[in-house]
Amino acid sequence: MTARTDIPLPAPLSLPTRLLHWGVALGILVMLAYGLALQWVPSGPARTASVQVHKSLGLLVLALAAARLLWRWREGFPPPGPARGAWERRAARGVHAALIAASLLMPLSGIVRSLAYARPVALFGLPVIPQIFAEKQERLYALAAGLHDGLAWVLAGLVALHGAAALKHHCLDRDGTLRRMLGLGR
Ligand code: HEM
Ligand code: HEM
Repeated sequence: MTARTDIPLPAPLSLPTRLLHWGVALGILVMLAYGLALQWVPSGPARTASVQVHKSLGLLVLALAAARLLWRWREGFPPPGPARGAWERRAARGVHAALIAASLLMPLSGIVRSLAYARPVALFGLPVIPQIFAEKQERLYALAAGLHDGLAWVLAGLVALHGAAALKHHCLDRDGTLRRMLGLGR
């Protein structure tokens, strides 16, 4: 959908911002669906192997999300589009900050969950974090697993809100918000 011509439009966002945004977005969506689907895999070797893949992909998402955080630190948030009202600026900034926090806390709680279960953490078979505990740490495990599970729903809710806002700006306001994240002009 083309943008309106009667309002000033925001310039396309920088290439690192766009690459990191869509990389993390894809990673988070895949990981949420994967984590949910894991619940239907019966216990046994297939489940163990699937959890290993989940953990490895999660570590890759963590690396991307950390790079994204560093980039935001260096660059600050992109300035809001010129056609946006004050409450919209605040709401968008709040949701963006929450998305960044959740996309880091999600894999970090997964790592603590695995360690508390007395397991090492490996990236496709390559040991990344050695086993810390000799046996399962019940309380730490319950805390980390509860956080990993609860945060998954919070993150899904934030992504739904964020995606709906992006569509509203694109289809109703036609103010160039989605186009600038896609690197497109008017
Ligand atoms: C962005 C990253 C991640 C997302 C969105 C994600 C999401 C999920 C979801 C939705 C579940 C199912 C709900 C639950 O049981 O809590 C799950 C389970 C799990 N996740 Fe993650 N996860 C991520 C990263 C990681 C990482 C990095 C690790 C460990 C290194 C990890 C370890 C686990 C484990 C051990 C389970 C339980 C699997 C089972 O049921 O046996 N996750 N994850
Ligand atoms: C469902 C697909 C998604 C769409 C259509 C979408 C769209 C957008 C758009 C249009 C912007 C620009 C907002 C502005 O101009 O102020 C944006 C920014 C942002 N989005 Fe998404 N997004 C999606 C998924 C995600 C996911 C999964 C995350 C989370 C981890 C995320 C995190 C962010 C953040 C933190 C920003 C602020 C700018 C930045 O740090 O890059 N988005 N998104």
